[in-house]
Amino acid sequence: MARVRRPPREVWKNQLGFILAAVGSAVGLGNIWRFSYMTYENGGGAFLIPYFIALFTVGIPLMILEFSLGHKFSASAPLAFSKLNRRFEWVGWWTVTFVMFGIVLYYSVIISWCLNYLLFSFTLAWGDDPGNYFFKEFLSISEGPGEIGTVQTPIFLGLIVIWFLNWVIVHRGIQGGIELANKIFMPILFFLTSILVFWSITLEGAEIGLKAYLNPDFSVLTKPKVWIDAFTQIFFSLSLGFGIMIAYASYLPERANLSRNAFITALVNCGFSVFSGIAVFSILGYMSVEMQKPINEVVTQSIGLAFVAYPTALSLLPGGAFFGVLFFTSLVVAGLSSSVSIIEAFSSAAVDKFPWDRKRIVTCISVLGLGGSVIFTTNGGLFWLDIVDHFITHFGLITVGILEAVLVSWFFPLESLRHHINTVSDLKIGPWWSLLIRYFVPLILIIITGTNLFNEFQKPYEGYPISSLIFIGINWLVITIIIALFFSRSPWKTLSET
Ligand code: ALA
Repeated sequence: MARVRRPPREVWKNQLGFILAAVGSAVGLGNIWRFSYMTYENGGGAFLIPYFIALFTVGIPLMILEFSLGHKFSASAPLAFSKLNRRFEWVGWWTVTFVMFGIVLYYSVIISWCLNYLLFSFTLAWGDDPGNYFFKEFLSISEGPGEIGTVQTPIFLGLIVIWFLNWVIVHRGIQGGIELANKIFMPILFFLTSILVFWSITLEGAEIGLKAYLNPDFSVLTKPKVWIDAFTQIFFSLSLGFGIMIAYASYLPERANLSRNAFITALVNCGFSVFSGIAVFSILGYMSVEMQKPINEVVTQSIGLAFVAYPTALSLLPGGAFFGVLFFTSLVVAGLSSSVSIIEAFSSAAVDKFPWDRKRIVTCISVLGLGGSVIFTTNGGLFWLDIVDHFITHFGLITVGILEAVLVSWFFPLESLRHHINTVSDLKIGPWWSLLIRYFVPLILIIITGTNLFNEFQKPYEGYPISSLIFIGINWLVITIIIALFFSRSPWKTLSET
């Protein structure tokens, strides 16, 4: 390690560029439909209590931690962990590997669905039975994960477009690619979402939806599931445990306002979720009036919310095609700004470690990414997506969160990291942060993981065959750990190679 020297790191053009990129990574598909559904399912407004507790006690402290690791060590996740201690490098590799060869593979497929639905919106192609259209015609889903079937051409074509866009943006580098794209994407996203929100609250029945969204049912707070969902949602939504925030912060200049930027990123992300939830629920209220059904019967399940419930409403509404185009454009934009951040997290790790050219790395992993995504475009793709997503988010992301907190606070002088944050930031953080990272974050995340594991053994996830859960879900985690160990054993590039 002593002989390692790297070319100067690219830096963001300005702080705004960094914040928009970090917000762009955080705000994604998870905010627009997953958050609303979670809120609805977990007691409406009452869900916001565990959600905001998770945000302030775990989300923001970990965001500050990830920013500070990337900035202090000027490093991507594996290099930062290896600087904490050479033996921890694999943790950094594991996180960037399971997000690159796990999350982004199916995430890009969902963006491809959105792209297809953007085009379908022009003619309201889903007809009068959007549920049948989505599951039977568009996805053409098989009987179960064991029946893979064939690739669905429209999804595959959309996927090529998405991977091409991912590649173009990341290939152009930090300033000319990711920063520029987010400076264009984020205003578009906020503008489109504002139009959708203001339009939706004028609909008949909107107040019924908003009541379901914001009316707290405090009795749910005694259920562990509500708390688990809130903490998992915060992880996924803030892109924590992805290695992204470490990589993004590594491109910051010396004075970087880490703590303030972490607060801004986290609060804008969660504010966006709450705001866009207004549109989703107003529309559900409208549907409940139109279909003369109670609101709890118009929502089926999380995926159905965007691709079944929303199209159903659009078919009923005057001007539905126009608002469909807006809605699915906003999903594509939100999705792309998150998928590029995942690719960047892995690319920056590979650039730090290996003597390879960045552009070549980006091209290579984009091709691999496209190839790896194909399985999720098949008839069995939805089942694979569901299983991989479940295991990676519940066990991968949360475990990385535990490891980050434990390794940094128990095997490293945590106070020196706090000192670093306070030296470069205007907003000083007190010892509360160290206490949360050292005790609260690991403790609560271990309890959540323990409960998750217990549930896993009680009942196979979603009733899938155990063999599929092991073969797809657990294997995915195990294989990415093996790859991570392999990468971490390879030598670092040396002076002569840079
Ligand atoms: N943070 C991203 C999302 O919420 C991954 O979709």
